Amino acid sequence: MACFDTEEMRTRIKETTESILAYNPPVPDIAIIMGTGLGGLAEEINVEVAIPYDKLPNFPVSTVEGHRGKLLFGTLEDRAIVGLQGRFHLYEGYEPWEIAFPIRVVNKVGAKMLITSNAAGGLNPLYRPSELMVISDHINLTGFNPLRGPNLDELGPRFPDMTEPYDRELIEIAENVALENAIRLHRGVFVGVAGPSMETAAETRFLRMIGADAVGMSTIMEVITAVHMGMRVLGISVITNVNLPDNYKPAPIELVIANAEKAGEALSRLIKLVLRNLPE
Ligand code: HPA
Repeated sequence: MACFDTEEMRTRIKETTESILAYNPPVPDIAIIMGTGLGGLAEEINVEVAIPYDKLPNFPVSTVEGHRGKLLFGTLEDRAIVGLQGRFHLYEGYEPWEIAFPIRVVNKVGAKMLITSNAAGGLNPLYRPSELMVISDHINLTGFNPLRGPNLDELGPRFPDMTEPYDRELIEIAENVALENAIRLHRGVFVGVAGPSMETAAETRFLRMIGADAVGMSTIMEVITAVHMGMRVLGISVITNVNLPDNYKPAPIELVIANAEKAGEALSRLIKLVLRNLPE
């Protein structure tokens, strides 16, 4: 379903924002997308207000069974945050603007920073499963863009600058706290694909050749949307499998999830350390 009508989009954002505000949530500074591997972080949030996605008008509803999405408003490391428990992927059939929609509304209710995590396949041969990578930059190979269609000028510019989508200061904080706390953290380029089929060996070789260190099926739509609205972004990938074109092995979903879960504790720790070390 297209939503290329500016008035329609404006109305939807307003309706959803008003519905959220009716729950009287604390105003968040930071939005955290809890991707694969970051499920455990939700338990550490001091949740003041939890809003199931299906209680919010216009919100996409997760297709993943047994996984009702929620917005979790509260504090983590004394920071006012909103956790997005459950995210949406292109391969599920959502439109780019639908995937972007939760980011629009969490920004409207106050979040000026986005911390996002994902599961990704390693392309850099030096990476190992269950290690973490801070995203330095991305390549959008999904073929989609959440900003396609008329621009809502009050949200952001028509042609948003992409010279530095991932905030340098946040990357530096993540690298410093990782080093100080013995968390192995790579820094690399994330390439986003639409999926759901995994990459062929030839595609894997191509992705490595064009400069990517990790590949995944999420994150890009949300990050472009956040940058459009001037949010600062930090992205962390959990390397769940390593894809080497000359020694290419299947990475079944069970392996991806198991390796993401193994990294969950380190990922939660890293994000909490970043929150603790953010400048006021
Ligand atoms: N390819 C694409 N997406 C992924 C992968 C992969 O190898 N691993 C986890 N998400």
